[in-house]
Amino acid sequence: MPIPLEYTRRTLDEIRAGSPEHVEQLFADLRADFDAASSTVDSADAWKSFRDAWIGRKSGVLSAISDNWLKPAPPELKRVVGAALNQLRAHVEAVIEARRLEVEVSADQAAAVREHVDLSLPGVARSLGTRHLIRQTMDDFERIFLSLGYSVATGPEIETPYYNFEALNIPETHPARDTMDTFYLDLPPGALTQYLLRTHTSPVQVHTMESHPPPVRVIVPGKVYRRDNPDSTHSYMFHQVEGLAVDTDITFCEFKGTIEYFIREFFGPKVKTRFRPSYFPFTEPSAEVDASCIFCDGAGCRICKFSGWIEMFGSGMVDPAVYGFVNYDAKKLCGFAFGLGVDRFAMLKYGISDLQLLFQNDVRFLRQFP
Ligand code: DAH
Repeated sequence: MPIPLEYTRRTLDEIRAGSPEHVEQLFADLRADFDAASSTVDSADAWKSFRDAWIGRKSGVLSAISDNWLKPAPPELKRVVGAALNQLRAHVEAVIEARRLEVEVSADQAAAVREHVDLSLPGVARSLGTRHLIRQTMDDFERIFLSLGYSVATGPEIETPYYNFEALNIPETHPARDTMDTFYLDLPPGALTQYLLRTHTSPVQVHTMESHPPPVRVIVPGKVYRRDNPDSTHSYMFHQVEGLAVDTDITFCEFKGTIEYFIREFFGPKVKTRFRPSYFPFTEPSAEVDASCIFCDGAGCRICKFSGWIEMFGSGMVDPAVYGFVNYDAKKLCGFAFGLGVDRFAMLKYGISDLQLLFQNDVRFLRQFP
C-alpha cells in the first residue's frame, strides 16, 4: 500500500516547511487512519493484506514513510520525524500482533462450530461385505496345508511358454498344449519373447524350484486363464491351487496320505478318496484323485452320474525330467505334485450348480456364505 493519497499532498515540502507540530499532526492522522483500518480486519486473509500494507518490507506504508519522509527530511526535522515514526511503528506492530491473535481465535471458534459432531445423532449403518467364497475356499486350503508344514508361494499370471509348458516337460509339439487353449499376448513388432496368460498354476513349481534348494513344500493359489466360452462349468478365468513337495525320502505313500488328509479336512471325515491312473507330462506316475460323492455318500446319484465317485483333480509323482530343468538332482530327489480347481471345490462343497455365480459378484449370492 502506498502512502495514502491525502498524505502525499502534504509531503516532503510540507515537512520541510513545517514545524515539529506539523509533523506530529501528520503522524497523529496516520495513526488514526491505521486504527480505523485495523478495526475492519475480520479474517486471516484480511489480516495478511493489512499487515503487508502497513509493515510489508517493500511496499508497506512504514517503509514508504521511512524512504520518502525520513531520509530526505532536513537535519533539524530528522529527529522529530524519526521519533514519530518509531512511535508509530511500535503502535502498528503491537496492534497487528493483537489482531493476529484475535483472528486466529475466531477462526478456531468458527472451525469448532463448523466441525462440531453431534455424538447423540444415530449413526449411518454401513453394510459390510464378506470374504468371497473363492477367497474362503483358498483360505481353507492354506490353513490345511500350512498345518502340514507347507508354505504359500505365488507367481506371475503372465508367463513365457518356457515356464507354462517346456520346463514342465510339455515340448512344443506335445498334444497336451492343445488341451489348454491358451491366450497369447500380442507381440510388439520385433519382440523375441512370446508371452501368454498362464493356463495353470504349475509354472510356479518351476519358479519355486529355481529359486529354492530342496526340500520344498509349497502350495500355490492363483488365477489361471483358458480360451473357454463361459457356461455353468467353464470360464476364461478360474482359480487353481498347485501343490508341490520335493525331498529326498518322499514316497507314493506320503503322497496318498497327504491327499487323503486334505480331502477329509476339507469335505469332512466321511469322504473317501481313490486314485485312478492318469497321464500328465510333468508327473510319472500320474493319478486322477476321486472323492466319494458328497451328495449321496457314494450310494450313486445324478451328480456323480450314479458312480458314487466325483473326479476331483490331477496329481502324481514329479517326473524326473522336470528336475532337469531346475538343476535338481533327479537321482537323489523325489516328490509329488497336484493341481486342483478351487472353483470346482467350492461348487461341490457348497452345492453351487453354476460356476458363473462365482464371478458375477451379486451380493445376494455372496451373502449366503458369510
Ligand atoms: N496343471 C494341471 C492342469 O491344469 C493340473 C495338474 C495335474 C497339476 C497334475 C499338477 C499335477 O501338479 O501333478 O490341468
